[in-house]
Amino acid sequence: MKLINKKNKNYTQVFHIFTEEDWAKTSKNFNKNISTFFTGKKHEIFVNAHEEGITYFIGLGKSTLQNFEIQQVAIKFSQTQKGKLQAAPTLVLADFMTEKQFEEFTKGLLIGTYNYPFEKNHAFWSTKFELHFENLSQKKLDNINQKAEALSNGQIACQEWLNKPANLKKPDTLSLHLKNLAKKYDLKYTSFNRKKCEELGLGAYLSVNQGSAYDAAFTILEYKTTVKNAKTFGLVGKCVLFDTGGISLKNPDNMHYMKSDMGGATAVLGTLIYAAEMQLPVNIVAILPITDNAISENAFLPSDVITAYNGKTIEVLNTDAEGRMILADGLSYMAKNFKTDFLIDLATLTGSSVRMFGDTCGAMFSNNEELKNLLIKTGDKTNQRLWNLPLWDVWKDDIQSDVADLKNISMKPIGDCIVAAKFLEEFIENHPKWAHLDIAGVAFGNVGYAKEKAATGFGVQLLADLIENYH
Ligand code: BES
Ligand code: MG
Ligand code: ZN
Repeated sequence: MKLINKKNKNYTQVFHIFTEEDWAKTSKNFNKNISTFFTGKKHEIFVNAHEEGITYFIGLGKSTLQNFEIQQVAIKFSQTQKGKLQAAPTLVLADFMTEKQFEEFTKGLLIGTYNYPFEKNHAFWSTKFELHFENLSQKKLDNINQKAEALSNGQIACQEWLNKPANLKKPDTLSLHLKNLAKKYDLKYTSFNRKKCEELGLGAYLSVNQGSAYDAAFTILEYKTTVKNAKTFGLVGKCVLFDTGGISLKNPDNMHYMKSDMGGATAVLGTLIYAAEMQLPVNIVAILPITDNAISENAFLPSDVITAYNGKTIEVLNTDAEGRMILADGLSYMAKNFKTDFLIDLATLTGSSVRMFGDTCGAMFSNNEELKNLLIKTGDKTNQRLWNLPLWDVWKDDIQSDVADLKNISMKPIGDCIVAAKFLEEFIENHPKWAHLDIAGVAFGNVGYAKEKAATGFGVQLLADLIENYH
């Protein structure tokens, strides 16, 4: 895609974008037939084929719409008109559009090209696809183009990995991909195998991995800026490639969805790609404890007591509460080995958060007001919303164990997402700016590009926006 500040005389493809109010004012200048079919409502598309080419009338709805809604419209337009759109110079007519609005529109066009398995063969990814828009300077358009491509590359990578079936994302496949990605973007790549993890004492992570047929891959990716005094973001993403529940086996009815149990990791992956392509003036340390949660003769057992990286002992009462085990070591390894200004973990952690919020928002837990408010604000802005839940100490009573420092579940049928957050808090080593995002209900769900549930990309735009705009 190219964005160009000009307007020629003849175009074979035109995107004419309207809000309802805008259409009400200008519709009289158009052929009467058009106004009987088109009103400017959100997501409305009217295709007018004429002698010179095709004009797409695109409705945005009320003029009070938020920026993310423009992205939604562009995504749907891109998805539904896929087959017809040409890789050709295209005129955009939208006099009311602000820079931010045009940015969202462009992002949406590219994000909307995604389907599984992804091939970059959509007209929009061709350099012959030019959007001609005279209302913004070439400099602004170049900036928008770079942002839109970086974001969609990040979000598409996130969705692609989450959507892959379990047999196509074994630890070695993912590790190879991450290694190549590190090379491409000049990231530092470190990965600990089982032997190394044993030496380091990553016992909570290893308890989950010991039942796996595949070697451990506790992986660290670092993006560094050359800018001095830059802030450092520590990101930990749950990366369970498939969660059978282990010996505490899951019910098979919905088990296939558990290929999505790496949704925290893919959100982090997409954010890294965005930061690296944009060369953002920040540092990012990402920890992805990669494993599956399998049943085998070596699998960990309910009643096992294991020692985590920070020395705390954990009584395993349910092997299906594996996410908090691997995150425990991810968090304390981060806190003990890296100096970070913010520590954020993302995880498809609990069914409890799904029962509470469905697909409307992620559950957030944080020990820091500033970070909490920033995340809520960014979530509202990007439509990847979060709702804050408590970290009150009364919830800690329920994870006291008779045989260890902690137990991994409370055994009470209430508030497991809060219990899990309290559990994780034991492993942040008093980091003053920590947030835990339980994204089990929002990472994988109904989407416009697939019949069944699929990856939503949740987390990428949230983190990208947060990191890019933090000063
Ligand atoms: N990966 C699941 C959580 C999950 C549930 C993600 C639904 C996406 C959709 C997690 O590992 C898990 O199994 N959690 C258990 C914990 C329970 C045993 C305390 C759960 O929530 O049922
Ligand atoms: Mg589980
Ligand atoms: Zn899980």
